[in-house]
Amino acid sequence: MEKLPKRVKLKDGRIAAISFIGKDDSVRELNSFINALVDEGALILVDSHVSLKDEAAWKKDWISKQERKNGYLLVARVEGKLAGTSEASRERWKGRNNINLGLALAKAYRGIGLGEALLRTNAGLTEVFFKPKPKNIYLSVLETNKPAYNLYRKLGFKEFAVFPGWVLHKGKYMDGIFLKLDQ
Ligand SMILES: CC(C)(COP(=O)(O)OP(=O)(O)OC[C@H]1O[C@@H](n2cnc3c(N)ncnc32)[C@H](O)[C@@H]1OP(=O)(O)O)[C@@H](O)C(=O)NCCC(=O)NCCS
Repeated sequence: MEKLPKRVKLKDGRIAAISFIGKDDSVRELNSFINALVDEGALILVDSHVSLKDEAAWKKDWISKQERKNGYLLVARVEGKLAGTSEASRERWKGRNNINLGLALAKAYRGIGLGEALLRTNAGLTEVFFKPKPKNIYLSVLETNKPAYNLYRKLGFKEFAVFPGWVLHKGKYMDGIFLKLDQ
């Protein structure tokens, strides 16, 4: 059973500490993290800078979701620095037993096993956090995002839908590929 906070050894020998987002996580650091992904043109859905005000509201919203058991946001720190986040959120109303996951790492922390460790932790937690047991645990990825697609397949997610031309990335419509865990 997944328990947090948790420490994981990465391929480069460093230790990542994974925990739920909390009051002590700096809004400024979270803000720099997402805005760096935007600047990089990462294959995520956010495509414009987030203001500090919106970031503060976003953090508050995640803490509130955690308290209401509607979702959580995991933060991974390496040597104290924010290296990655991975979230799980419950859909609303009649879709409440569908859980959507997401994952992103700062560029400097990729390729050393952190994405895998964070997503494994996230997927394991869904089983103990959400009651009743979720029906579908799923995520989506843009068609050209091979690192993410490969990671999701490696962890046992199976493709179940393609939304054609769904997401506008750098002026081009891309397919959104949806994958879910076999349970
Ligand atoms: C996608 C992402 C989370 C992968 O995390 P990561 O820590 O770099 O990946 P890991 O080192 O844990 O690698 C785990 C598996 O992912 C796949 N993978 C990772 N990097 C890859 C690459 N450059 N090319 C192909 N597959 C790759 C492999 O299957 C790998 O398993 P292996 O080591 O046995 O080959 C990370 O690249 C990232 O945050 N990218 C930017 C944001 C993003 O795209 N988020 C996902 C949105 S859907």
